[in-house]
Amino acid sequence: MCGIFGYINYLVERDRQFIIDTLLNGLSRLEYRGYDSAGMAVDGDKKNEVQAFKEVGKVAKLRELIAESKPDMTKSFESHAGISHTRWATHGTPTRQNCHPHRSDATWEFAVVHNGIITNYKELKALLESKGFRFETETDTECIAKLAKYLYDQHPDIEFTVLAKAVIKELEGAFGLLLKLSLPARVPPLVIGVRTSKKMKVDFVDVEFSEEGALPAEQASQNAAIKKSSASLLAPPDKSLLHRSQSRAFLSDDGIPQPAEFFLSSDPSAIVEHTKKVLYLEDDDIAHIHEGQLNIHRLTKNDGTSNVRTIQTIELELQEIMKGKFDHFMQKEIFEQPESIVNTMRGRLDTVNKKVTLGGLRQYISTIRRCRRLIFIACGTSYHSCMAVRGVFEELTEIPIAVELASDFLDRQAPVFRDDTCVFVSQSGETADSLMALRYCLERGALTVGVVNVVGSSISLLTHCGVHINAGPEIGVASTKAYTSQFVAMVMFALSLSEDRASKHQRREEIMEGLGKISEQFREILKLNDSIKDMCAKFFKDQKSLLLLGRGAQFPTALEGALKIKEISYLHCEAVMSGELKHGVLALVDENLPIIMILTRDNLFTKSLNAYQQVIARGGRPIVICNPDDPEFSAAQTEKIAVPKTVDCLQGLLNVIPLQLVSYWLAVGEGLNVDFPRNLAKSVTVE
Ligand code: F6R
Repeated sequence: MCGIFGYINYLVERDRQFIIDTLLNGLSRLEYRGYDSAGMAVDGDKKNEVQAFKEVGKVAKLRELIAESKPDMTKSFESHAGISHTRWATHGTPTRQNCHPHRSDATWEFAVVHNGIITNYKELKALLESKGFRFETETDTECIAKLAKYLYDQHPDIEFTVLAKAVIKELEGAFGLLLKLSLPARVPPLVIGVRTSKKMKVDFVDVEFSEEGALPAEQASQNAAIKKSSASLLAPPDKSLLHRSQSRAFLSDDGIPQPAEFFLSSDPSAIVEHTKKVLYLEDDDIAHIHEGQLNIHRLTKNDGTSNVRTIQTIELELQEIMKGKFDHFMQKEIFEQPESIVNTMRGRLDTVNKKVTLGGLRQYISTIRRCRRLIFIACGTSYHSCMAVRGVFEELTEIPIAVELASDFLDRQAPVFRDDTCVFVSQSGETADSLMALRYCLERGALTVGVVNVVGSSISLLTHCGVHINAGPEIGVASTKAYTSQFVAMVMFALSLSEDRASKHQRREEIMEGLGKISEQFREILKLNDSIKDMCAKFFKDQKSLLLLGRGAQFPTALEGALKIKEISYLHCEAVMSGELKHGVLALVDENLPIIMILTRDNLFTKSLNAYQQVIARGGRPIVICNPDDPEFSAAQTEKIAVPKTVDCLQGLLNVIPLQLVSYWLAVGEGLNVDFPRNLAKSVTVE
């Protein structure tokens, strides 16, 4: 999805080459999120002049365009603000015109880049058109720049933050945006990296709250009317309502602002190469960077939430977001899994004393034990990981479990009660459907738990408590290591919840022992890489369709495998619950249809074998994922992928890895760009 990157230097002299390179590098770090065009705005040669560059396609093409335009790269700026963007088209096709940044007018008085959606842009556009503005693009974003200009023209001495607040008050939807010189955010979040030559005085920034919202009551009601009728536009808020505090972190001992650089991004991966000091904005924060100072303002009055934002040190290392010796991020991430699941368990699972400690849940665990229902809510791969652990939750906790696709849950406006616990599972922590479902559950008073990879993401900030899965940055669009880490994190969650159940003691110990061995078993499976690659070339090349069959806990594995194959290799692949085969799908089976069947031993093995027999009887020649030396599949002609045996409820962790490899090699075999599959984005921040 769209990515934002901004770079501000204050009293740190930088030439245009440095500024443009910093912006381009920032954008290339965001490429993995998925996008179709890119653009940037930097200062021009004359005062108050802006140079914008926009191009359809990859960041490399934007780089070429800039080189062809030959701007004076030696021009130097003591202080400068540059903004840039990768766009994933939602309103309007990917064209240069629709690329961000967008402008208020021909002089670029206001330039804006934006991530998310403005749901009331049509009303705003109609209103601004009636005021004489001429729109140049099909985007929802353009109305932000024009709105800022309209308000500013009416009140030329308005403070920038007051103006930003007034603009944001009019916008509906979920968005993060950079207005040149200003940075307001309302989901998806923005991270600000700071680099100063001297140590910062304090490691926090004060938050300034509005006393009665930003607007006096009379204006606020006037605005509400505007939103409905779009008849006239608001007067800006009274600036006497704003207090202006000093941003203490960036002042020297004598109170003078010190040289500083600010890196603004949708994602810390674009910042880590410049600085490790970052600050995460919360929902509705407006960050205003002016003359080397960062101030945070709120649209709302102080509701008891924290009045500071901490400047944290991120632990991300540059090599974590580089491909290293691998050809693709997805491949790297598949091969990282023996370590990433250990990181998920580190400090939490004590296999010697058979104990699980999840610090992020400690305060809430007894409340969760008493809940009426556990509802898992997620999308895509994260939804599959929830399905994969449903059985173990039911078994260990005996709490009724529901697993919901976030979009469907919202479409149905499903009933949620105060004594429900709702678990939101998301790699990015930004998926719009999951986030909206979270807000829906919060409004209904349910306890909410996040199982999230990205620290500081919206879901991790908005949930009452949670578990970070600690899988490390996942850059490949197809989720792999996040799936296995979510799985492990949730199994540990189930183990924690059942700690007080004597009847589950033995079973819990068995699962913990199993978890202790999983990493080594992952390594064993990854040794199958070459044979899986050959198998893909031999059996699946030029096929039109593929069936994946699994039963019980292995049905989610089949679903996840089918999603990976579809999204990366564009081969139609359908996961079928093997018990359902006889109810229709069997009609597809013949000697030509490629089929993979998951047939590792568990309590449903005999039933799963029935499906296998049904396929064989129709001339099918399925490839079988089974345990090593299973006599059932000893015939020399049976194609097998042998995976080690583990505790039944963990077997899906092992079985999914060959399927990840199948999807990877299928895509590579087709010459496809594994890390950037068509029409997909890493963080799906639109509904
Ligand atoms: C598939 C994939 C997607 C995501 C889904 C949810 O490989 O990555 O299906 O799982 O978009 O994303 P998160 O987990 O970030 O909420």
